[in-house]
Amino acid sequence: MSDPTRFDLDERQRAMLAEMGVRVWWPSKQAEPEPEPEPANQAMPAAPAPEAAPVPAASTGVPAAAPPMAPRAQQAVPAARPAAAPVPVVATRPLVEGVAHMDWRALQETAAACQVCDLCAQRKNSVFGVGDQQANWMVVGEAPGEQEDLQGEPFVGQSGQLLDNMLKAVGLSRQAQGEGGVYIANAIKCRPPGNHNPTPQELAACAPYLARQVTLVQPKIILLMGRFAVQSVLQTTEPIGKLRGQVHTYQGVPVVVTYHPAYLLRNPADKAKAWADLLLALKTAQG
Ligand code: URA
Repeated sequence: MSDPTRFDLDERQRAMLAEMGVRVWWPSKQAEPEPEPEPANQAMPAAPAPEAAPVPAASTGVPAAAPPMAPRAQQAVPAARPAAAPVPVVATRPLVEGVAHMDWRALQETAAACQVCDLCAQRKNSVFGVGDQQANWMVVGEAPGEQEDLQGEPFVGQSGQLLDNMLKAVGLSRQAQGEGGVYIANAIKCRPPGNHNPTPQELAACAPYLARQVTLVQPKIILLMGRFAVQSVLQTTEPIGKLRGQVHTYQGVPVVVTYHPAYLLRNPADKAKAWADLLLALKTAQG
């Protein structure tokens, strides 16, 4: 059988990989279900420490809502590993009721009017999500920056350009519907002032919105980019370096973890690892 992770790159995709700064390599020809966590052919810098996560405050209650699984999300997920040890987080104010049952419109309107945490005070726009709402792929980033806050769309700044190129390299685009479509959302919908790291409380306040987005999209794969996306969805502070290279699950959907594009812009040597993560996500989405 042919290796499902191996697909022919056209000129455009090669150009995109070049844009990412990635030299093309392929996983071992046996296409192991669990790939090596780190590709061997890189000139690796010293082990990066940038993805070390802070330990959130202890929980006093309110777990993130876990809505019922949608039919597609209930399909069997082979080779998925359980998430690492949970890290409970808690919102400081009561969560909005009924989020777990809202349709897209109600969900977006509720998020736009949300006052569960203090981030509402300075937002210009809540940044809900973009792309095909029935996409097979869902990308989850961390939080909007200045440009995203102004435009109301995730990943429109410099790291968004890299994200778009990464997605193009595997045939996906935020503009496409159907096969090449992707839905992009953030763990946090409102810009943290000063681009501060999202707090556990802020992550907990927003988690029900993301949970409902996942239920509504019913993706075949979720790609988590960055430690705060990981913290929100997998509820762990394990570093990206330890979590990538495996398939986790969330709401029964396979989850692959990778570095945040902003991190990759600062650490281009790790783009090859991100490419390996994209291939793992591609293979997992193809079942
Ligand atoms: N970084 C993110 O994680 N999300 C955005 O929308 C922009 C930058």
